[in-house]
Amino acid sequence: MHELLKRYGEWALVAGAAEGIGEAFTIQLFQAGFNVILVDINAQALKNLAEKLEPGFAMIPQQQPESGKEAGIVSSGKISGEDRATGPDQLRGSVDSRIKILCLDLASTDAASVCMEAIRSVQCRFLVYVAAFSKVTAFTDLAPAEVDRFIETNNRTLIHLVHQFANEQQNGIRSGILLISSLAGLIGPPMVATYAATKGFIILLAESLHQEMKQKGIDVTACCAGVTETPMFLSTRPKYGLFKPQIQKPEAVADFALKMVGRKAICISGRSNRVAYFLLTRILPRKISGKLVARNMTTLYL
Ligand SMILES: NC(=O)c1ccc[n+]([C@@H]2O[C@H](COP(=O)([O-])OP(=O)(O)OC[C@H]3O[C@@H](n4cnc5c(N)ncnc54)[C@H](OP(=O)(O)O)[C@@H]3O)[C@@H](O)[C@H]2O)c1
Repeated sequence: MHELLKRYGEWALVAGAAEGIGEAFTIQLFQAGFNVILVDINAQALKNLAEKLEPGFAMIPQQQPESGKEAGIVSSGKISGEDRATGPDQLRGSVDSRIKILCLDLASTDAASVCMEAIRSVQCRFLVYVAAFSKVTAFTDLAPAEVDRFIETNNRTLIHLVHQFANEQQNGIRSGILLISSLAGLIGPPMVATYAATKGFIILLAESLHQEMKQKGIDVTACCAGVTETPMFLSTRPKYGLFKPQIQKPEAVADFALKMVGRKAICISGRSNRVAYFLLTRILPRKISGKLVARNMTTLYL
């Protein structure tokens, strides 16, 4: 991990930092010595995490968005719920704080630009994009706005952020991009078609950029997580059949992905996930693999 700090130090931005796998990334990066820019929609969870990392992390609560879910910028010492895009000055925390917070909906049109302001303000060279919109339901039951939200959160902001970040890195100075995808992006299961498609997009993007960005000194990796015990996954209320899938802890996913950055274009977290996906993608015909994945999904959710 300290190797990462040498390579990309000293700032990392985690998009979707407050809970689940993003929280695990944030804690591990912070403990390794990175200063962190935490981006998330959930203001209260961000505040809790900041206080866990830096006891006494100061915030002024009176301007906090009521729902804790609206866009705004919070920084050490102050919080602004309305004028998030007015400039990087708003992100400056107390002089010696190692944490900056952006309370922001990553589905919003200007989310990539807002993140870039924070990135620019500290010359951050490590970008970790974790957040995703996900929902387990029949494709035809999705509302049009939900279809948009998948694309906005999982793909549009992600690709604009990667694009701007890559454009602004200086040749010869190494930097890193770590994108979190899913096993669902490798073989599309039923009930999560749109989610799976957005995750497949991330895999192809990382695979292409891993090669293309090498000469610019930018490491690009996508990590496919399998079933992981996060608040998001538990909220889907899965049922297990005879064969319970390997369920990883968020810490294990983050630890593995951070070890893989720059080493591989695509990696799969969890040994049994890797074995299963080797069989499904390299040994069995795609048709059979699709049926097995569909059966597994049916056991979990129907
Ligand atoms: N958990 C699994 O089993 C699993 C399996 C495969 C892949 N993955 C991938 O792993 C990543 C992390 O998943 P996770 O289970 O930790 O849950 P997650 O729902 O992605 O949550 C991570 C954090 O991102 C935040 N977030 C979600 N949408 C956001 C938005 N539009 N703007 C700002 N912040 C947002 C969440 O806030 P809220 O909670 O308040 O929305 C949460 O704090 C995702 O990319 C997911 O696709 C997860």
